[in-house]
Amino acid sequence: MLKDKKVSYSGIQPSGNLTIGNYLGALRNFSQYSDEYQTFYCVVDMHAITVRQVPAELRRRTYETLALYIAAGLDPEKNTLYVQSHVPAHAELAWILNCYTMFGELSRMTQFKDKSAKHSDNINAGLFTYPTLMAADILLYQTDVVPVGVDQKQHVELARDIAGRFNQAYSETFTIPEPIISKSGMKIMSLADPTKKMSKSDENANAVVYILDDKDTIIRKFKRAVTDSDTCVRYGEGKDGINNLMSIYSCVSGKSYDEIEREFEGRGYGDFKLAVGEAVADTLAPVQAEHARLLSDKAYLESVMKNGADTAAYFAQKTLSKVKKKVGFLI
Ligand code: TYM
Repeated sequence: MLKDKKVSYSGIQPSGNLTIGNYLGALRNFSQYSDEYQTFYCVVDMHAITVRQVPAELRRRTYETLALYIAAGLDPEKNTLYVQSHVPAHAELAWILNCYTMFGELSRMTQFKDKSAKHSDNINAGLFTYPTLMAADILLYQTDVVPVGVDQKQHVELARDIAGRFNQAYSETFTIPEPIISKSGMKIMSLADPTKKMSKSDENANAVVYILDDKDTIIRKFKRAVTDSDTCVRYGEGKDGINNLMSIYSCVSGKSYDEIEREFEGRGYGDFKLAVGEAVADTLAPVQAEHARLLSDKAYLESVMKNGADTAAYFAQKTLSKVKKKVGFLI
């Protein structure tokens, strides 16, 4: 595909308050592409309604997620920031790609299996074809890299398979995207059950640290984090809780595991948990302040999402027109 710059694309669902998993695994990594890549970062509200949402809360979180993108360092002048439902090409391409995605492929998606177990009263078709919509998001922009946490790797791999299948059938149409998973922070675990991913939809608020939690709440949650009966801060097998805290601390302090082990030698878990809580709160403080400032200026956020949608629609349309021609639609 001929283009001036490589493309980075990612998205976050406004389906709950964003967590430090979203921040460390994805959001904080987005801005590193701003200078050298053309970047598109989307608030994926169409994905969010695969699970029932309270409409007023969905609206509030859509603004908040956009504000967090900017607060995390994404300058709207340099990055295209937009809301998925404002660009109809996503739904159009998703429909076409649904016809190039196999039932068996979608049935194997672990997120679908997890979510349909959790929402057994609402296993809707959107939940099942969710990964095809995600493939459409990515493929519309001729994306080269997709910075995500490890839980989204399987979906990006499916997008690659769909793109390859389409290219093979109709000649080169889509760039094949690459998932980029940062080593540190790729899977932040629940503080209450460190064998489970930290998730914005967790019902236990103590299991999850939200980006917008205040300092006292963050410290209290880390103090309560589940660890083990050992007393020594070291990374190892059977120490899921401590491993998770070490990984979070390493992400926010930049220290290696060896350095962390040395720092806390001879000190108990209590000291360590407090240090992790303080370091996380200090990292988030400037993001929170900027988020609060932005949220008080709705007109500005609306102008960002409007401009973003215009830019995104322009590039999306180019790909969509090509696809329509190739499959035989009259355009
Ligand atoms: P979502 O909204 O669940 O999560 C947003 C991003 O945060 C990452 N993440 C985590 N990383 C580390 N540890 C965790 N505990 C953790 N929890 C979440 C996710 O991997 C993701 O990168 N399907 C996507 C949204 C999406 C998308 C896209 C992403 C829709 N279209 C196109 C990339 C490209 C999702 O549900 O993310």
